Amino acid sequence: MSFGTNYRAPTTSPIEVIILKGVFLCAGKGTRMRPISYSTPKHLIPLANKPILQYNVEKVIDAGITEVGLVVSPEMESLYRETLGTSKWGASITYIHQEDPRGLAHAVACARDFVEDDPFLVYLGDNLLHSGLTEMVGNFEKEEPAASILLAPVDDPERFGVAEIEDGKIVDLVEKPDHPPSDLAIVGAYLFNQDIFPAIEQIEPSDRGELEITDAIARLINEGRNVTPSELEGWWLDVGRPSDALKANRVLLEEVDGSIEGEIRNSQLKNRSEIVIAEGSRVENSELRGPVHVAEGARIVDSTLGPHVSAGEGVKVRKAGIENSVVMDEARIEKIELTESLIGAKAEIRLPGDQIKTIAGNRAQIVDERA
Ligand code: DAU
Repeated sequence: MSFGTNYRAPTTSPIEVIILKGVFLCAGKGTRMRPISYSTPKHLIPLANKPILQYNVEKVIDAGITEVGLVVSPEMESLYRETLGTSKWGASITYIHQEDPRGLAHAVACARDFVEDDPFLVYLGDNLLHSGLTEMVGNFEKEEPAASILLAPVDDPERFGVAEIEDGKIVDLVEKPDHPPSDLAIVGAYLFNQDIFPAIEQIEPSDRGELEITDAIARLINEGRNVTPSELEGWWLDVGRPSDALKANRVLLEEVDGSIEGEIRNSQLKNRSEIVIAEGSRVENSELRGPVHVAEGARIVDSTLGPHVSAGEGVKVRKAGIENSVVMDEARIEKIELTESLIGAKAEIRLPGDQIKTIAGNRAQIVDERA
């Protein structure tokens, strides 16, 4: 008898819990990331020349999750679809609408039809994690709690959901408390079974007017359900503001292994082991100070780049100096010195005349007005 390719041999447990679905929360207005988020959704901003969402999808793929549901606001769907289509980075992509960003619990409820009866992972699309999710997912599949959350000690717990722990167990959770019961913040990756949906139905909006997933999980705990903690290893970055994106860009650039595949003419490379010059790009009469990441097809001429600069595909830089900045695909920069800036895709920054000017200091954001 043939069972087809999906057959799994019977195991000792009659029902095997396997998590195959991941819900990424990418709605919300991205107001803190304006104006760049007008043309590039926050979760698609490239850091070290790779979209934030790609790092996250790769993490869930590593944990065996291949069906991704993206919760997006309906007006942003087309921007995501243009980049991701219905399958990307090894995952199938389903778009789920959240009409208004009424809170994380509301966003999770919007994904109910997508997850059907299966346990699932929820990932906040703007969080970046150093470590993988394999262990957390494996423990959930073994222990089968109602929910599992990731926790990390932080210096400013009042900015996050915070866990109260007694004897290694979570006894309560509170969202952005004035007086945090511990320094353990809730990191943006959660695992749930179906019990979360009735819990969401029973919560009320918080003081900030949102349906908080933290409150729904606290409800599960108060009802005596098992909610297990996992401790995060390594760094964790919540990319809410432009300064967070620049910080994450710095951290990610430092993790990239240098490789020189593009063409270099009459140029100096300082800290070469942290410089990537991709195939098809050219660096001419310039100085690069690693970490620097130059993507395919970029041209860097008579310029200084770095440290901590990523220049996207097809970027053109001439007679310029750029430091600590993200320059997105096909942007063009001439005769200017920039620092701490997010430069949108296809943006053009050119000054007339020959003199180089420092016009954009401190976190300038220049977006493509044609987008
Ligand atoms: O970053 C971790 C923190 O994330 C946790 O410690 C908190 O407990 C949790 O509530 C959350 O707090 P934030 O205030 O940082 O969440 P934020 O509003 O930034 O939303 C996180 C992601 O979810 C973001 O990618 C946008 C998306 N989102 C947000 C809302 C409010 C939605 O998809 N729908 C929404 O309604």
